[in-house]
Amino acid sequence: MSVSFLLSIRLFYLLHFFLLGVDIEKGNVKWCGKKATAVGDQQDYAQFVKTFQTLTGIDLAKYKEAQMKRRITSLYEKRGFSSFRAYTKGLQAEKSLLIECVDRMTINVSEFFRNPTQWEIFQQDILPAYASKQNSPVSVWSAACSTGEEPYTLAMILSDLYPLSKLKVLATDLDNTVLEHARHGIYTEKAIREVDKSYRDLFLEQKGILFHVKSELKRSVQFQKHNLLHDPYPKQMDCIVCRNVLIYFTEEAKEKVYRSFHESLKQGGVLFVGSTEQMFHPERFGFRSIRPFFYEKI
Ligand SMILES: C[S@@+](CC[C@H](N)C(=O)[O-])C[C@H]1O[C@@H](n2cnc3c(N)ncnc32)[C@H](O)[C@@H]1O
Repeated sequence: MSVSFLLSIRLFYLLHFFLLGVDIEKGNVKWCGKKATAVGDQQDYAQFVKTFQTLTGIDLAKYKEAQMKRRITSLYEKRGFSSFRAYTKGLQAEKSLLIECVDRMTINVSEFFRNPTQWEIFQQDILPAYASKQNSPVSVWSAACSTGEEPYTLAMILSDLYPLSKLKVLATDLDNTVLEHARHGIYTEKAIREVDKSYRDLFLEQKGILFHVKSELKRSVQFQKHNLLHDPYPKQMDCIVCRNVLIYFTEEAKEKVYRSFHESLKQGGVLFVGSTEQMFHPERFGFRSIRPFFYEKI
């Protein structure tokens, strides 16, 4: 066999190893094709996050990465894309894909009196005790309110304490589509299943199979777009209800939100969080726990 033939075989193998991503380290040969792909995927995801922020103002880097990737991958595969890179191009080209993607990442599930036991504690103990110490109707903020079930629940409860005309529930979310739904105030039987009969009679009107929030109640809720990770927070709130959204944020983002809630509340004001969102060491953020899922600003 000629020397040049042997050299060309060697060259062929070296090239082959190089293209397949083989790592020759301290005499060991390690396959790293998968690692190379993972790095590529990570770069594609980083680019996706950057583009998504430019197109929507939403910073996905502050949301738990594994969860977001899973949700968005299953969506883009459904739409026939095979990578974050291809999907990013798709989002830039097609507005309907972008709207769908925002809807998917925002996770909008809600219902009236969600986790009724917690609402019972709020309605029977916490709110009346707090309200009795105030001279004017309490100011309440439903942050990340989704399609409106939570702020309308708040307005129903508050109507036991104050005339509707005096009520103002601030209701915010990042997603315009859900806010539009919330303003219309039309719900299925499933969404209102925990609403008791007296509130149904007073505030909901059945039309066919759907339930419409009556305009008197609608008028007491003010819907606004607001990004918890970006926008300034309202001041002097008596009570903030923020449930089932913090769970999607990174630890760092969550802690920043807790500090902002602290600033947003009046002294003694109350924060009501979701079932899986209890604060560890609330004193770190200037709160004390008064009941599970309820914190008071100290
Ligand atoms: C699962 S829903 C919770 C609705 C309601 N609070 C409840 O517990 O039934 C989560 C909501 O958080 C909103 N959201 C997600 N990220 C947000 C952010 N950075 N700022 C404000 N809202 C956000 C989503 O648009 C979605 O409507």
